Amino acid sequence: MSVKTTPSAHIGIVGGGQLGRMLVQAAARFGCSCTILDPDPDCPAGQIAADQIVGSCHDDTQLRRLAAACDLITYEHEDINSKTLGQLAAEGHTIYPEPHILAIIQDKLSQKQYLQQHHIPTAPFIALDQPNQQACDNFGYPLVQKARRGGYDGRGVQIMHSAADFVHYLPVPSLLEACVPIQKELAVMVARGQDGHSIAYPPVEMHFHPEHNLLDLLLAPADIPADTATAARDLALQVVNTLQGVGIFGIELFLNTQGQLLVNEIAPRTHNSGHHTLDAHITDQFEQQLRAILGLPLGSTDALSPAAMINLLGANNYRGIPTVCGLDTALKQPGVCYHWYAKKETRPQRKMGHITILNTNLTKARTMATRIREQLQIQGNTHGRL
Ligand SMILES: Nc1ncnc2c1ncn2[C@@H]1O[C@H](COP(=O)(O)OP(=O)(O)OP(=O)(O)O)[C@@H](O)[C@H]1O
Ligand SMILES: [Mg+2]
Repeated sequence: MSVKTTPSAHIGIVGGGQLGRMLVQAAARFGCSCTILDPDPDCPAGQIAADQIVGSCHDDTQLRRLAAACDLITYEHEDINSKTLGQLAAEGHTIYPEPHILAIIQDKLSQKQYLQQHHIPTAPFIALDQPNQQACDNFGYPLVQKARRGGYDGRGVQIMHSAADFVHYLPVPSLLEACVPIQKELAVMVARGQDGHSIAYPPVEMHFHPEHNLLDLLLAPADIPADTATAARDLALQVVNTLQGVGIFGIELFLNTQGQLLVNEIAPRTHNSGHHTLDAHITDQFEQQLRAILGLPLGSTDALSPAAMINLLGANNYRGIPTVCGLDTALKQPGVCYHWYAKKETRPQRKMGHITILNTNLTKARTMATRIREQLQIQGNTHGRL
């Protein structure tokens, strides 16, 4: 089925979180409208979309309703029913990225096997149907156990430094991966259009919270040698061109202590490591996704400014209706770009928004980001040991 292009396209988005919300905002700029499928009637994307189907992203019937209501479908997370999406594509519905690519990626084992089969560098691994100590001992420590399905933000990832850590194993079908001696964690956003043209953003550097495994600080561009940056972009482009996917992809990379690049994982969608592009790049990742799935030319990935980005996370010990404490102080400072996702409730470590700091000097942007993170606190209307 051919897709009506801007301004009239009606886009179905599976999932209604912040990524969906920011896609709705980009779609509005292009004169397009959106219907969201999400179980939460108050979800961030549903609040501003033309329409929402309240239902599960795994529900065959609701996905079919979405397809019937829209010119094309895309998605904002991977925990969705790729089988039904595959059937809908076979029946002539336009779905990007293509459901067979989603099916490879949403199972971490098949994703790793795909990378291996296509000679894309990635950490060595084995499948582990049922966790057992002997298999871990044989594989060797330190290792990383990863759940095949449903993990995000580090949930579904268990690092075992020695046999004693096996007590923390995840009781689900998994893979075991060699623990990489990481010098830096990098990410490259790649867009690929319907004509097969692909384009990469400059690599960014991701710093994770050691305990919560959430992206703590993003630096753009990554502080790496120029030839490493070129190699990272080339590797990310290779991944997406091999998949032949249409849309936008986040490619997470490890730069190991020997200076080698390894692909950690692929996200077939916009990504937390691309949020700075909203303010710091000519074309942001959401507009780029839209251009790709609508069959429009891709936009420039050039940066307008170096940037540091922090997630605004719900404070520990607070839940309920959120208040952002310290916002005035943050917004008084130059170069501060504020994004709030309008989630109705805060929870400890929940992603509630993000702030990007633009500065011609990345070191200054980083210092400001760290300070603002200390000044801001997202509280809720219930407090205490929850
Ligand atoms: N092989 C590895 N060696 C060392 N550290 C690893 C390895 N795999 C994962 N990690 C660490 O665990 C983190 C989370 O792993 P991964 O990205 O695979 O899981 P995830 O839950 O899908 O993450 P997210 O949804 O946040 O992207 C990585 O960012 C990295 O810090
Ligand atoms: Mg990851």
